[in-house]
Amino acid sequence: MALFRKKRGSSETMKKGARLITAADPKSPVSEQFRTVRTNINFMAVDYDIKTMAFTSANISEGKSTVTANVAITYAQAGLKTLLIDADLRRPTLHSTFDVQNNRGLTTVLTSEADVFNLDEVVEDSGIENLSILTSGPIPPNPAELIGSKRMSTFIDLVKSHYDLVILDLAPVLEVSDTQALASNLDGVVLVVRQGKTQKPAIKRAVEMLRFAKVRILGYVMNDVSSENNGYGYGYGYGYGYGNENKQKTGFLSRFRK
Ligand SMILES: Nc1ncnc2c1ncn2[C@@H]1O[C@H](COP(=O)(O)OP(=O)(O)OP(=O)(O)O)[C@@H](O)[C@H]1O
Ligand SMILES: [Mg+2]
Repeated sequence: MALFRKKRGSSETMKKGARLITAADPKSPVSEQFRTVRTNINFMAVDYDIKTMAFTSANISEGKSTVTANVAITYAQAGLKTLLIDADLRRPTLHSTFDVQNNRGLTTVLTSEADVFNLDEVVEDSGIENLSILTSGPIPPNPAELIGSKRMSTFIDLVKSHYDLVILDLAPVLEVSDTQALASNLDGVVLVVRQGKTQKPAIKRAVEMLRFAKVRILGYVMNDVSSENNGYGYGYGYGYGYGNENKQKTGFLSRFRK
């Protein structure tokens, strides 16, 4: 059962937006898998409060935007007042996903000289209960610097006091260095890995870089799980641990290409 059109490495999401299966068909097995991802993130976060969390990946086109938007919807559906931010200024998609203008957004607040952030000017209603969105805004020549800036962390500190949960779609760790800088200011990061595409050394390097920046890795979402396991064309899995830290669970990543 093809729930997503398979087109690896394309910018389909950039043009048409991510498929919001959790909103379109909340009872589908794939939506259930996204809810399982949410539950597992919550298990990981049992000892501390997660107010700000981001999804990233090692490289491009591994499913970050699709996973981020759908997981954000499951949190909103669970009753959490959620803000979804497009912080991937390199390949922004959120405005396409929710079919809204992108003439103002995150970059508007980051480049403004105003002392006070006016959220109402940039945050929009997604059309889904409990879910607000902040699109990337126009892309400036120095996107990475903005994401890693002090102003960005000040902004995150402000928005988290207005929402139960703030979720960010971040550029890939191996592509944009400022992903690490921002990620280290968040309560946790989930790494999206794509079965059959993400190479093990790339995951290992991404994990090392996140750890070096003292980022709290909440787990891994395995995107595009093959049909052999669950009977569906596309699926999502969730795992923890990489390398030696949690031996009994590392089997999760052994299914990726060497
Ligand atoms: N589970 C899946 N099954 C099939 N296609 C998928 C799946 N997840 C994502 N895709 C497709 O793969 C492409 C990349 O997905 P997406 O844009 O979510 O990834 P991304 O990591 O955000 O990419 P980018 O690096 O461009 O930001 C899109 O065309 C999307 O429709
Ligand atoms: Mg993306």
